[in-house]
Parts: sequence; C-alpha cells; structure tokens
Amino acid sequence: MLNFTFHNPTKIYFGEGQLSSIAKEIPANASVLVTYGGGSIKSNGVYEQVSKALEGHKWCEFSGIEPNPNYDTLIKALDLIKEHKVDFLLAVGGGSVVDGTKFIAAAAMYETGDPWDIVAKQVKITKALPIGAVLTLPATGSETNTGAVVTREGNKLPFASPLVRPLFAVLDPSVTLSLSDRQISNGVVDAFVHTMEQYLTYSVDAKVQDRISEGLLLTLIEEGPKALSEELKSDLNVRSNIMWSATLALNGLIGAGVPQDWATHMIGHELTGAYGVDHARTLSIVLPAVMKVRREAKKEKLLQYADRVWGINEGSESERIDNAIAQTESFFRQMNVPTRLSDVGVEGTDLENIVAKLTEHGMVALGEYKDITPEVSLEILKAAL
Ligand code: NZQ
Ligand code: ZN
Repeated sequence: MLNFTFHNPTKIYFGEGQLSSIAKEIPANASVLVTYGGGSIKSNGVYEQVSKALEGHKWCEFSGIEPNPNYDTLIKALDLIKEHKVDFLLAVGGGSVVDGTKFIAAAAMYETGDPWDIVAKQVKITKALPIGAVLTLPATGSETNTGAVVTREGNKLPFASPLVRPLFAVLDPSVTLSLSDRQISNGVVDAFVHTMEQYLTYSVDAKVQDRISEGLLLTLIEEGPKALSEELKSDLNVRSNIMWSATLALNGLIGAGVPQDWATHMIGHELTGAYGVDHARTLSIVLPAVMKVRREAKKEKLLQYADRVWGINEGSESERIDNAIAQTESFFRQMNVPTRLSDVGVEGTDLENIVAKLTEHGMVALGEYKDITPEVSLEILKAAL
C-alpha cells in the first residue's frame, strides 16, 4: 500500500427528513447565499424545505447554475455576494451546482487577479467562503470532496482545494425520486467509473481499498437497474444504496493509498466541452476503450475485477478480460447509456481535434503510469468509435 493522509471532515446528514439539520449547521448570524440550478428544486419541494429550514436566517438566492457549470454564469454571483455581504454558501442541487458553488466560494475571496486563473492557471486558493450542500443527484461525490469542474468557452477544466470542501452535506435519498431516468443512469454510471478510476490500475496489495471498491461496484450493478425499473423506481432503499455508494466512490476513501488513473475522465471532459455530451455518457464510452487499450498494463486488476465483480474465472486470461469488458459494456447498456462515440454522433474525423484539445489542456501524460500520451489517447478514442 502507498503512504497516504486521509482527512474528510464533511459532516454528513443521511436520510429522509434530514434537511432541517441545515439550520443548526449554519451560524445564526450568517448572511447566506442559496445557490441552485434550473429549477428542479422548485418543482420537487426541496426549495420549500430549504426555505423553511432557513426561516431564522438572513438569506438570498442565486439560480441558473447549468449542468457543466459555466464561468460566465458563476461569476455573476459575485455581485450578489458583495451586495448582501454574503459569508456562507448553501449549494442545493447536483454536482454542477455544488461544483459551481465551489468556484464561487473561491472566486469571491480571490482578490489578486482574474478568478479564471483558479482554473486555468491552477493558482493555489488561500481563502474561500464556507459551503454547505444539499445534494439532489447522487453521482459526483462533490458534496464531500475538494474537486470541482468548470467550463468556459468549451474548455472544461478541474480545480481542487481543501478550502472548498463542503463543511456539511445533506443526503436525503427521497429528494432523488424526482430524477429523470437519464439522470439516474448518469449518476450510477459516474459513481461506477469513479470507483474504476481508483481500482482498475495496478495492485499495491491494498486489500481494504480493493474490497470496498468491489463492494461499491457490486452495489451499483445490483441497484442501478432497480432504480430504472417500474417496480422499484420509488424504493427508498434502492435510492439510499445508490446515494451512499456515489458519495463513498469519491470522498477520498477508496483512493487513499492506491494508484489512480483518471484518463477516462480527462478524455471524457473534452467530449463534454466540445460536443456537450453528458459527463457520465462520456465515461461509458471511454472506459471500455481504456480497458481494451490498457489491457496489458491493467492485466492483474482486470483479472481480479473479472473474478470478484463478475464471477468470471473460466477460460484463458485473455478470454476472462474480454468477458469482463463485455460485461461492463452490457451493464452500461442496461443503464441506457452509450458505449460508442458513434452513439453520440462523434466520428473518426473528429478525433484529431479532441486530442489537440487534450494537448492544449496539458493532458499529455495521463493514467496511473502517466504514459497515456496524446498518441495513446488517440488510440483509445479510435477504440471507442
Ligand atoms: O438544474 P436543475 O433544474 O436542478 O436540474 C438538474 C440538471 O438539469 C437535474 N437534477 C438534479 N437533481 C434533480 C434534478 N432533476 C430532478 N430531480 C432532482 N432531484 O439534473 C440535471 C443534471 O444535474 P448536474 O448537477 O449537472 O448532474 P451531476 O450531479 O451529474 O453533475 C455533473 C457535473 O459534475 C462534474 C461533471 O463534470 C459535471 O460538470 N463532476 C464533478 C466531480 C467532482 N466535483 O468531484 C467529479 C465528477 O467526475 C464530475 O466531473
Ligand atoms: Zn465523474
């Protein structure tokens, strides 16, 4: 196992009815800015619950944070923050709202230059407004982690700082009942691929991390299709298991002390940036191709994954790996997400441009061995056609 430091101080309130807890977590004298997206929280009762919980607080709101949050939108929140002397942010929504709020938190306290530098130049953040989160879409893990992804003019780029990690997060599975099938699928697949990015690398004999990862993968494979089925669509246990899996998949726990890949994500971000493909749908396209192209480098873990997650232990090594990749693709198809670039209208002639963008963004040494060069990325994209 590799050395690691693990510190995840986000306080989690999990379960139905936990939303009222936000009142005691936000200082009574705070000036709160509630941030949200396009309005789903207004139609599913979450906005009402938040308003009720904040009755004793001074608060205002900023709406319109879009999926794949855009810099031009987020920057508008800064005027409101100045005007109302906001000193606490409450993000209410999915990963885009939480990520966007993280950017707002850092940008509001960034006095030395252009706030875009936080993302484009990865300047170290030294101050940020405190954040609380009410999560409405289990997927990204953003509610308890330090990362965020922001888009500007087709450039979708990540940044991270412990200062933007939410202080608390409310995870009420009942608020996820209003999600569309598309967003349920996206969430399950995103959490699945987060687990794979930290699991499917090379072995460092990290038995606990491996087995927790396998447990998360098995849970998502078991529960994901149930959340799409007519019979279990409204089952809160199914939603709870998905929600907790998504948080644990990217809260730092399974990634501590192990090598990590993230090539699928970095290639995927370019597909979202250039073609607007939903985040999870880029992952379901790119991951199988990464597994194919990197089958030698990932051989040991692929065989472990085949055995422990899919129960595949017959046939030659090569056959078992083929079978594990086929099972992964079949799970994605069961979740109704695409597995080929052609499914989302991206063609062979587009690939050079995607690789040029990766290069422009400095994504030239990806993967657990940092040996996924632009040439290898091109090979991966070709395998995904
Ligand atoms: O905007 P509203 O009206 O709220 O609607 C949203 C949005 O249209 C809707 N939605 C959310 N909760 C709902 C709901 N609709 C009905 N009922 C509910 N309870 O769902 C749509 C998608 O929301 P979004 O927040 O974009 O989805 P997700 O949570 O998948 O977040 C995706 C973003 O997170 C980034 C992605 O790149 C993408 O920008 N990621 C963040 C990560 C992190 N911070 O660690 C890691 C991930 O790998 C990922 O990159
Ligand atoms: Zn993701």
